[in-house]
Amino acid sequence: MSEPLPQAIVTPITPAAIFLVVTLKEGKEAEDNIRSFCPDLSALRRTVSLRDRDARLTCVMGIGSEAWNRLFPDAPRPKELHPFKELKGVHHAVSTAGDLLFHIRAHRMDICFEMASLIMERIRSAVQVQDEVHGFKYFDSRALIGFVDGTENPEDEEACEAVLIGEDDPDFKNGSYVIVQKYFHNLDAWNKLPVEMQEKIIGRKKLSNVELDDETKPDYAHNALTVIERDGEELAILRDNMPFGEIGKGEFGTYFIGYARSPSVTEEMLENMFIGRPKGNYDRLLDFSTPVTGCLFFTPSSDFLDEVE
Ligand code: HEM
Repeated sequence: MSEPLPQAIVTPITPAAIFLVVTLKEGKEAEDNIRSFCPDLSALRRTVSLRDRDARLTCVMGIGSEAWNRLFPDAPRPKELHPFKELKGVHHAVSTAGDLLFHIRAHRMDICFEMASLIMERIRSAVQVQDEVHGFKYFDSRALIGFVDGTENPEDEEACEAVLIGEDDPDFKNGSYVIVQKYFHNLDAWNKLPVEMQEKIIGRKKLSNVELDDETKPDYAHNALTVIERDGEELAILRDNMPFGEIGKGEFGTYFIGYARSPSVTEEMLENMFIGRPKGNYDRLLDFSTPVTGCLFFTPSSDFLDEVE
């Protein structure tokens, strides 16, 4: 038997993305609607994609823990699928409602917009939109706090190894888990910090993006607390964070999205950030960045979606 095809998780970065999180309405009608939509998603993507092939449109669909039970009550469950775990440490990682995630990426926002519109046309009667974020690339892939974001992401084979399920859960080969959090930054306070302090918090130089050396980098640096090892091996996740915001409202944000073959990897990073490693040695980036959402989804292989009945 050939391997199930993964969804387009490992893709080159794009300048535009839409993150759509919805909850399912009560009742069988809503469940039937989503089940009949699943096998049509790839055709819908092809339809939009043909309007400009160079735009490299991709769309990843994620399914939350409770929604999985409702949509596929008789099917096996992905081994590690559970709701997002709230964390209450020095700072609070909230867990918020979300049954389905659509992570739409392209080189043109209009193409993302069209894809999101066509998805909603199909599922509007079955869902309530909980959150919709339109993200953009900011200069040389910087977050709105001014630092380059994404440098240490794994690439190619290494990225596939980090995000795609293998023999660890054979029923769900080439599936993945994704955690999303929408963060708001207090940019006024952040910009008042001396750049040297900002660099210590992130663990890299602001302008050049060079990593701080071990002597200069504090153990609370973001890139110290998010580096984790098991059995002497460093564990990676694949991030494709996007800036977003509304100038008029003074709203400046980062939409965090992290894919991993086991959600426990991202969860350990979050624990280090919010509770601290050791406890109390938390991520100072959180003094200036507050998550207002937190959801965990399973992203099945695209073959799985095509075969939903
Ligand atoms: C406010 C939200 C966040 C912002 C603005 C942010 C920004 C950054 C920046 C600027 C870097 C350094 C460059 C790079 O390697 O990408 C970085 C690294 C990293 N971040 Fe974040 N991040 C955020 C949230 C998170 C969260 C929630 C996680 C995990 C749960 C995370 C995991 C990582 C990892 C794994 C690295 C690479 C560490 C390394 O290997 O050096 N980040 N982030």
